[in-house]
Parts: sequence; C-alpha cells; structure tokens
Amino acid sequence: MLHTLRAAVDRCGYLDLISAFTTDPDPGKMRDFIDTEVGPDLADAVRLFHLADPVSSEAADRLTGGLCSQLTQAGLFQLNDGQVRTKNLKLRFVDGLVFFTGAPSARFPLYFGDDSLGLLRRQRIRQGERGLDLCTGTGVQALKLALAGGVVTGVDINPFAIQVARLNAEFNGVSAKVEFRRGDLWAGLKDGERFDWICANPPMVPALPGGLYPLVGDGGDDGLEITWRFLAGLPGALAENGQAITLGVAWSDGVLPQCLDRMRIVADEQDLNIRMTITRTLDARPGSGWYEALKQTYLGATAMDEAQVTQALGEQLDRNQATHSVMYFLNVTRASRGSLTLADLSPFRSQRLWDI
Ligand SMILES: C[S@@+](CC[C@H](N)C(=O)[O-])C[C@H]1O[C@@H](n2cnc3c(N)ncnc32)[C@H](O)[C@@H]1O
Repeated sequence: MLHTLRAAVDRCGYLDLISAFTTDPDPGKMRDFIDTEVGPDLADAVRLFHLADPVSSEAADRLTGGLCSQLTQAGLFQLNDGQVRTKNLKLRFVDGLVFFTGAPSARFPLYFGDDSLGLLRRQRIRQGERGLDLCTGTGVQALKLALAGGVVTGVDINPFAIQVARLNAEFNGVSAKVEFRRGDLWAGLKDGERFDWICANPPMVPALPGGLYPLVGDGGDDGLEITWRFLAGLPGALAENGQAITLGVAWSDGVLPQCLDRMRIVADEQDLNIRMTITRTLDARPGSGWYEALKQTYLGATAMDEAQVTQALGEQLDRNQATHSVMYFLNVTRASRGSLTLADLSPFRSQRLWDI
C-alpha cells in the first residue's frame, strides 16, 4: 500500500519541482519560493519532504495519501503537538525512483550524494539476473537494479538504513524483487550465494585514526579500508561471468594512486581483472580547496582543535606519501589470471568528482 505515497506527492507537484534540481537548492531560497503563489499543498510538501520543517498532521496525512501514522510508526516521521516533521530526511526523485534519504552529509547516518549519483548512472543488470548491493544505505542502488529487472539483495550494517530501504522499496513497488538484510559487508550473505552484478558505494573518505567519523563516510587512513574487504570477498560471491563495480577516493602522488601496488597484488592473488577509472584528481596540499575540505571534515568528525587537525592531516599526507586525492571507479570481473589496468580521465578536467 505504501506506493500510494508516490502518487500523492506527484499530485501536489512535488516530484516535478524537486526533479528540476540536480544539486540541493539553497534552503533560504526554497523558503522564499514557497512563500510565492505555489499553492498550499506544494508549499507543505516542500516543508515536510525537503526542508524537514514541521507541517500540520492534517497536511501530512493529505500529502502522504493517508500514510502519516504508518510513517510515524516506521520511525520516519515524528509527531509533536499536532505537528509532523521527518527525522531530518529528504524525499528525492532520481532516475524514476522516489526515496527517502538523509541530507547530503557524510555525518548523517542515511547518505545520498554525488558518488551515489555517479554509481546510479553506471548500474546495469539484465532481466532476471541476481544483483547484490553492499553498503546499500537508502537502498537506492538496489532499487534501480530491481526496477531494471534484477532479483536483488541489499546489505547494510545500519539497522535504520535497512528499515528505510525496505520502505523505499515499497514506495517504488519493487518489494517483491529486493530483499534487504542487516549485515557487516559479506557477512550479510548466505552460504554459497552468487551474483551476476555486485555493486558497493562504501564509506570512502580517508579518515583519521580514532576519529568519531560515522559509518557512512569512514574509509580509514587510506580511504580503502572497506574496499579492500570488498575485493577480498568478491571471488566467493561473484558468478563465473559476473561483474562488480565500486568507487572511492584514494591518495595519489599527483601521477599515480598510492594503492596501485596493493591492488595489483589483490588482482593477482584473487584472480580478478580490475579496471580502475580515475574521474578526477584533486590537489590535497595545504592551501588547496580539497585540503581545506578534508580539514573541515576532520574538525567536525574528531574531538581535535584546528592545530591538532592540521598536524594530524599533515602526518596523514606524509604517511601515505600523498600530495593529491583521486576519485575512481573499479570494474571487476573474474579471470583465470588476474590483472590491473588504469584509465586516468582526469586530464579531461571536470568540475565534478564522479562524472565528466
Ligand atoms: C556512502 S553510503 C552509500 C549509500 C548508498 N548505497 C548510496 O549509493 O547512496 C555507505 C553505506 O555503507 C554502510 N556501511 C558502512 N560500513 C558497512 C559495513 N561494514 N557493512 C555494510 N554496510 C556498511 C553505511 O551504513 C552506509 O549506509
């Protein structure tokens, strides 16, 4: 029944409005916009589903097609003094999918960002094939695979993510094609399960040891902590002619990623063909925009002050012999003899991280 939500938010114009934006609009401008003549239902829909502002429970019931109490019971809405708001969630409409996510922040436990979009664009599965989405979060990758005809399993370590992913599957009418399980990466699978298409958008931001970084972003010191575990488990789960895709951020010396040697060994030992495609190279030295972005992330994610973060980040760059970061995708297949190839697209000079 939950897919009635989709029809209700479409009727009031929310899907038309929200799909006009490719990046998150400025909240102040959006508040000004809904003060114009857009009509009360669309204004309330933007408050409830986009700005995480409260609306009356009558409005919430109307905007959800009568599902307000179900969504409150499911933990997505909170009710206070006759007012309803979401738990800092946004209702997005991307690639034909309507789904709840958190705000685009590596700190919020329900993540959706540019990397998610980059992976969505590269999803491909054929009718009836078995798909696996590790680190599923909102379930958006799994939902796309299910809509394309796959029979899909999604795994995430965070129980709230699994709860929301199941609801998102219902909103999109694909519950029968996708099963969400709570689990730590490969531990979420049953013995002997094999998949034709495996994807993972793992936590990938390089993080400082001992940081308070939440699960969505923490990729460990080299950014690949979960990715190494992903690659290690692939031979046991990928069907003979199956394919896998993942993406991440890795340290580089400005010419080559520092992870290449280890990745070559993994390819060799695990009999995998790994194709690494770099979409962007960013200067990570002090004074660069990316260095400042990392510093701000670390300041928000650790108990350190600015001087301590500056020192720790300097040590991290030295430890990893890094002057740059690269954004990359890995496409992986099984092979009788493993290999690693590298395609560096960064000379095409995109402003985006995952697309050119
Ligand atoms: C960057 S988000 C990706 C979410 C979603 N797949 C997407 O593309 O938008 C990473 C997700 O990995 C999950 N995660 C982190 N560590 C995990 C682990 N060891 N096993 C399974 N999931 C994990 C987090 O809870 C989070 O939902």
